Amino acid sequence: MREDIKEIIIYYGSDIICSEIFRESFEQKHHYKTTVGDHILGVTAEAVKFCIRHGMTDDKTLSNVVTSSLCHDLGILGRDEKYSNNLQTLMRHPGQSAEAYIELTGEENKRVLNAINAHMFPLKPKLPKYKEGWVLTFADKIRSSMDILKIPPVTVEEREELLELAKKRNSEEKSP
Ligand SMILES: [Fe+2]
Ligand SMILES: [Fe+2]
Repeated sequence: MREDIKEIIIYYGSDIICSEIFRESFEQKHHYKTTVGDHILGVTAEAVKFCIRHGMTDDKTLSNVVTSSLCHDLGILGRDEKYSNNLQTLMRHPGQSAEAYIELTGEENKRVLNAINAHMFPLKPKLPKYKEGWVLTFADKIRSSMDILKIPPVTVEEREELLELAKKRNSEEKSP
């Protein structure tokens, strides 16, 4: 993974990456061979890459894109207990991911909320209202297709490095 992409993910997302719920996301399988957590990291990297390529690099956009990408599928955790079929999972997990975002960050940014709620467009017909939502839905489609093609969204080394960097940044921030 490119250094600039890693730096942006860590700068805006280290709190979420270090959270308990995010750690749990590596324990649930997703699509074919990946985990929810690896899929999320892959989507976030894809979304950030898109932002850099298209000059969407102002502070607010990057912050919203990283936050919504990192939270977009957290609501799917525990799917076997929560949902009885794939249709239910499709329809309900965006809303529950939005709730996870609020709980995790204590924020209710309308652009982040809309991006998370609309990320399954067009399968779930809720149109994204803001650019952050279009970036997320695009990145999610690319990475979901890669998951289905059994191309890992991130390598084991990339995942470990991101988790380590997030931990390091958080401990540096909290030290006096
Ligand atoms: Fe999703
Ligand atoms: Fe996803």
